[in-house]
Amino acid sequence: MTYFKDVLDNQKNSVRLARMKNNKHFVDDNQTFPFTVADMSFKAMPEIKEAINEYLEENTLCYTFPRDSYYDVLSNFMKEVHNLEVDRKEVLTFTGVLPMIDTIIKSNTNEKDGIVIFTPVYPPFYSTVKNANRTLVECPLNNEDGFYTIDFELFDSLTQDENVKMVLFCSPHNPVSRVWTKEELEKLVEISRKNNLLIISDEIHADITLYDNTHTPLATLAPEITYTCTSPSKTFNLASSNCANLIVKNPKLYGRIVDYNTKQPHNWVNALGLVATETVYSNYKQWMVELKELLEKNYEYIKERLGHKVTITPLEGTYLLWVDLNPYIKENIEERLHQHNIYVNNGEMFGDNGKGFIRINIACPLEYLEVLCDRLLKVIED
Ligand SMILES: Cc1ncc(COP(=O)(O)O)c(C=O)c1O
Repeated sequence: MTYFKDVLDNQKNSVRLARMKNNKHFVDDNQTFPFTVADMSFKAMPEIKEAINEYLEENTLCYTFPRDSYYDVLSNFMKEVHNLEVDRKEVLTFTGVLPMIDTIIKSNTNEKDGIVIFTPVYPPFYSTVKNANRTLVECPLNNEDGFYTIDFELFDSLTQDENVKMVLFCSPHNPVSRVWTKEELEKLVEISRKNNLLIISDEIHADITLYDNTHTPLATLAPEITYTCTSPSKTFNLASSNCANLIVKNPKLYGRIVDYNTKQPHNWVNALGLVATETVYSNYKQWMVELKELLEKNYEYIKERLGHKVTITPLEGTYLLWVDLNPYIKENIEERLHQHNIYVNNGEMFGDNGKGFIRINIACPLEYLEVLCDRLLKVIED
């Protein structure tokens, strides 16, 4: 292993650490770690430091457009990792995936239009739709013994309503870590085409697929109706670098974003974020191999420690593990766990059907998870 060795004092600058420390139950015993917000406890790729130093020797931190090599490296990464051809004229840079989603919604739909989400799902999916004054159309996923699938019949019936215009899709899915199969995606596309829907495919977790699961970019199946949201931030722990890429194959859909953006305050990405992105996409191979190894090891460990007591959703992708505590804790799950100095995400944040579940961020050293499992077992056994 060359990466994932250095843990920076429990990631001392992180939002999740600060939030944990602010909790009234928090007891600082040097053994308590936050397993919440989706970033990693590991140092960034060291090559970034060299690249930024080199960049600053020759450039100022002025407002910056991506340089040519940025697009070349991005295209190469998308082709090699996802078998997706990307031309630079299909790429728009954004400061993050959420601003991207907000822009796509506002530039393609009108107030009150319906937007489908598959729940449980990443909480800002709810708020972004609601804050834009669009109508949330919830399509709950089926849960069979912890394995989640799309209820296509329900999806079809909900979207036959002509007021429903768009799907906000998470692929792979946060929090239930499904890497949707090609067949599932084809079905999604078939119904979307039939019911005249556009799709926002949030593929921020796409590079993190485990075991033999393979991510299929939706743009390879339905380029004419898809907005693909990508970012290096999850895979390479670059959440604060504020640099993400929207890929739009259909020139008409691309044009709508450009038109909308010209009427907004400028939103140019961070110059150092561009350098960091170019660097990680140029040096991805070893990092991604090691990340996959680390996550599979961590997941196997948790399964071994907790699997006989609780239902753990199979981790096909992402580093966010979905665990069902329903048989043990029904009410006030957060408070109960905080009293045991356990800081994970409460499943209810992800939707009503997340009640009684927790989401655990396992992108951390195994030792952290040892402490977590000891504590969770104690709660369960109590
Ligand atoms: C599915 C999904 N989309 C978007 C985001 C946030 O992306 P950004 O920080 O680029 O806005 C996250 C962060 O966890 C996520 O899980």
